[in-house]
Amino acid sequence: MPAESFEGRGIFLPPGRLLSDAELEQLVRVFTSLGVHKLRITGGEPLLRPGLPELVRSLAAIDGIDDLAMTTNAMLLPGLALPLKRAGLGRITVSLDSLDNSVFREMSGGRGSVQEVLDGITAAEVAGFGKLKINTVVQKSINDHTVLDLVDHFRGSGHTVRLIEFMDVGNLNHWSREQVVPSATLLKTIHDRWDLKPVSNPLPGETARRYEFLDGQGEVGFISSITEPFCGDCSRARLTADGVFYSCLFSSSGTDLRGLVRSGISEGQLEELVTALWSGRDDRYSELRGKESPGNDKVEMFRMGG
Ligand SMILES: C[S@@+](CC[C@H](N)C(=O)[O-])C[C@H]1O[C@@H](n2cnc3c(N)ncnc32)[C@H](O)[C@@H]1O
Repeated sequence: MPAESFEGRGIFLPPGRLLSDAELEQLVRVFTSLGVHKLRITGGEPLLRPGLPELVRSLAAIDGIDDLAMTTNAMLLPGLALPLKRAGLGRITVSLDSLDNSVFREMSGGRGSVQEVLDGITAAEVAGFGKLKINTVVQKSINDHTVLDLVDHFRGSGHTVRLIEFMDVGNLNHWSREQVVPSATLLKTIHDRWDLKPVSNPLPGETARRYEFLDGQGEVGFISSITEPFCGDCSRARLTADGVFYSCLFSSSGTDLRGLVRSGISEGQLEELVTALWSGRDDRYSELRGKESPGNDKVEMFRMGG
């Protein structure tokens, strides 16, 4: 959450507005009954939620969930990686924008350090999370000069760096297209240093375009929502911590499921509602970007999750 929004305006949600573990479990059951089998816990920072291993345990036990993942800044993994592994968390994605500590702190709002993230990654490895994804959002003249070092660091580690084009999620990050480094530029820079080829078996619905190093030192991925929008392939629904359902990362309005759950509505009725919302969706924000007026009220990333 950007400092100006929580220090200046104090908008942390009171606990009563958050979905309880039981409410979350109920909604996940509704989604799985409609065919969802992959669940990612993100945020905000998921490791801050009290009792997270218990929540993970109950979500992992839901019939139909066969891929349970989490995106985190890794700061609290030294204490939580093992309990999360034991609770049934399957995969971890760690966000790390630079290995240069001053660049890192500029991008993190002056909080944390590279070493803490690396310690979190080590804790995840020790706990048995084998192959991590490392998410790196690249911004021109901010961290693009540190990308090669970061890729080099993780080559041969079993982890995969994914370079993400800086996106205009929400309004508080003051996005402009000039800050975006196109994936094609990064691919060329990396390919100039190490030979790469596209992976031969991309998975359907995959957000990243994956390339493998010809010397066998692993892969690097590119998420290019700005220069190569993939709205047509997107199958992600999103649920905020306070229970609002969104069908697009760039939505400006969603549907309050928490109120419905608390009103005692049946799971069958919830299934009908979610089916109607999902089949009626026509979101294609990334494809329309620049062609239509973007609007000024998109939901912020710290509510929506990445
Ligand atoms: C919003 S974070 C939430 C989870 C957790 N707090 C973390 O740091 O990983 C999820 C992902 O979104 C990415 N992200 C945040 N802002 C972004 C932006 N403007 N464009 C692209 N990706 C962004 C982050 O780097 C992170 O990998």
